[in-house]
Amino acid sequence: MLTIALPKGRIGEDSLAIFEKIFKKPFEFGDRKLILEQEGFKFLRVRNQDVPTYVFYQAADLGVVGLDVLEEVQLDLVRLLDLGFGKCSVSIGIRANEELDFTKPSYKVATKMENITREFFSKKAIPVEIIKLYGSIELAPLVGLADMIVDIVETGETMRQNGLKPALEILQSSAYLISNKNSFFLKKEEILDLRSKIKSVLDGS
Ligand code: PRP
Repeated sequence: MLTIALPKGRIGEDSLAIFEKIFKKPFEFGDRKLILEQEGFKFLRVRNQDVPTYVFYQAADLGVVGLDVLEEVQLDLVRLLDLGFGKCSVSIGIRANEELDFTKPSYKVATKMENITREFFSKKAIPVEIIKLYGSIELAPLVGLADMIVDIVETGETMRQNGLKPALEILQSSAYLISNKNSFFLKKEEILDLRSKIKSVLDGS
């Protein structure tokens, strides 16, 4: 039996759609159900940012999660396969009428992705003060809380509608199939078999 942590929302739905194609059966969580058992798999429905935690602590053998989340949590996990969906970028956003300019002595950057942000600016030796927010990041530059933001851009619509523009891409993200080292060691055959079935579905679509 393999236990797989899936995020709520689009990435989780796209993941279950792959299992439907493999087994030619519906894979659906019941209304508000957090566990689904089907065809020898147990699926856990968790918050996007919690997927790596469930997998790292071995409550799940496998998980599906965006590279953006993986890079942010910095846990030692096995990246088994880039699933190619759930595409987005982590980008710097600035006010639409401004240009990116790193000549000031310091910048305030609002983000929910502190680690990705800190690493990016420290590699470039640009001094920044990171302001941690939990959502509605696009608001921060509009009310003077920050000079810029680091946030997820999918269509760019949220930034556009709030008078911001993406100015620089830090990371390109898509959904990854992940495992913890222990599960990968103990259930290698089962995991690699599933990986190849998933890959066939992706290659065929
Ligand atoms: C992300 C991000 C932006 C939005 C970007 O939020 O924080 O607000 O999506 O998408 P767009 O470029 O297509 O407009 P998300 O929906 O992941 O919700 P969250 O803030 O709760 O993480």
